[in-house]
Amino acid sequence: MEEKHAYYPVGTVNDFPAQIGRVAHVGEVEIAIFLNSAGEIYAVENKNPHPKGGPLAEGIVSGTYLYDPLYDWKIDLKTGLVQAPDEGMVRTFPVIVKGGIVFVGALALEPAKV
Ligand code: FES
Repeated sequence: MEEKHAYYPVGTVNDFPAQIGRVAHVGEVEIAIFLNSAGEIYAVENKNPHPKGGPLAEGIVSGTYLYDPLYDWKIDLKTGLVQAPDEGMVRTFPVIVKGGIVFVGALALEPAKV
């Protein structure tokens, strides 16, 4: 069964500095959004699955991976999968860009507080 996402605006393309995370809120969810050097934008929940937690927006992007300097973790921004030897899963969100505006897809959430 196909899920239906609603897409919420989180800023314009120019609001996203390359390789540095930017935080946006979609409903109750805090999302970290990253623009990589290839011009691709990825959105993940701004919450490290590490037992001690921490915001992922402070990580460093290289290609399609996010490096969390706090725990020395590497996370696949496409799948949300934490890379071995560490384990975990970060929630990912679909991103679309339309007319220079960046939208993050989420299921049944309140409109974004940009
Ligand atoms: S419904 Fe599939 S990406 Fe939104």
